[in-house]
Amino acid sequence: MASSSSAPLRVLTGITPSGTPHLGNYVGSIRHSVRQSVAPGVESFFFLADYHALIKVQEPARIQRSTLEIAASWLACGLDPERVTFYRQSDIPEIPELTWFLTCVTGKGVLNRAHAYKAQLDKNIAKGDDPDADVTAGLFMYPVLMGADILMFNAHKVPVGRDQVQHIEMARDMAQRFNHQYGEHFTLPDAEIDDAVATLPGLDGRKMSKSYNNTIPLFAPRAYLQKQIASIVTDSRAPGEPKDTEGSALFQIYQAFADADETEMLRKAYADGIGWGDAKQLLFERIDLEVAPLRARYEALMNDPAEIERILLVGAEKARALSKPFLTRLRHAVGLRNLAAGKDKGGAGKAAHKAAKPSFKQYRERADGLFYFKLLDARGETLLQSRGFTSPQEAGRTIAVLQEQRGAALATLAAQLEPLDTEGTRAVTEALEALAEATTTTTDGR
Ligand code: TRP
Repeated sequence: MASSSSAPLRVLTGITPSGTPHLGNYVGSIRHSVRQSVAPGVESFFFLADYHALIKVQEPARIQRSTLEIAASWLACGLDPERVTFYRQSDIPEIPELTWFLTCVTGKGVLNRAHAYKAQLDKNIAKGDDPDADVTAGLFMYPVLMGADILMFNAHKVPVGRDQVQHIEMARDMAQRFNHQYGEHFTLPDAEIDDAVATLPGLDGRKMSKSYNNTIPLFAPRAYLQKQIASIVTDSRAPGEPKDTEGSALFQIYQAFADADETEMLRKAYADGIGWGDAKQLLFERIDLEVAPLRARYEALMNDPAEIERILLVGAEKARALSKPFLTRLRHAVGLRNLAAGKDKGGAGKAAHKAAKPSFKQYRERADGLFYFKLLDARGETLLQSRGFTSPQEAGRTIAVLQEQRGAALATLAAQLEPLDTEGTRAVTEALEALAEATTTTTDGR
């Protein structure tokens, strides 16, 4: 279902907390995604994929440390938790529940083809081991958990490195299958690969990556940063001899931080035979210029983990204001229902119900800062108006109860709603029924 053109673009970014953030993460993901999050018309979701970390890290202290470091890095780099939804995956219990729903519409054969799993398999086969040696079911299921991350918040765009594109395509596939089976619930996500944010080479010239052990930590102390930069591999040309920019890791890293003029200046210096020691000093100073103010914020944040914990819990509430009612709807769609609420008419449903349906709108009132919702009929007329809630999740919870219990909930929720007359009560009840039916219309009903 196409979203209307005025709806904000939902962008979702996740990082697995399995190590210490390095310059490659900064240049390839953090810097760009933080900048994008303040662009007008963009609604951003940033999260720490700690359930994913369990797949590759079995050291609890390292997961805790890494989660803290990555959260602090994002905040230090300017992520504004007021403006974006910033949370920890494991604070959203709807994600594992959605994972199960998606598991049940995902072909095992699709997962057999996932790169991360296949790479391990190929390695085992090459070694003559059992093909499934060291393969946990977690590794196999990795793409489904990732699909749930994305579909839970109906993200349109997911900025990722090329190695993750296949996972986004799988998420798309899961959304399509689910929608086909249970009605239009999920937005189909697209991967966003920004070729301008090239991968950064590491100390040895290969891609900077934890698995190559060639990284430069993003927030290392100054002296350590300088030492690491000094160990970048160069050729053996002496000062005075012209140097090649082509294939020079040092040059490429410089370029990732410098503007066009600065890059041109270094290109000339290379041609004029700058010594490697001097070139490394230039690189160090250029990186430090950008990183030093961020490092100061990072250090302050790392010294106050309770504040980060607090920020993440507030973010989780904001995220759950969306995930809870959405999961209520999905549970109903697949048939996990209140038995007392009557059965839907299934295949007998009329197409007319699908074409236009009632909807809930949540919003925040500028005047009092409180959170409200209303129920609109198929033509957009307000049928039901809520009172103000102090948090979006309270509003979300009330919507969830209305979706689940429909007309029966109106009496118990009376204090949270503007009063209705008999006619209004009837209209609201009908709309809630129609909404439940529309979300459960099966394919043969279309
Ligand atoms: N798999 C991603 C990585 O390792 C992290 C991740 C988990 C993610 N869930 C996601 C990224 C959802 C984007 C969207 O890099």
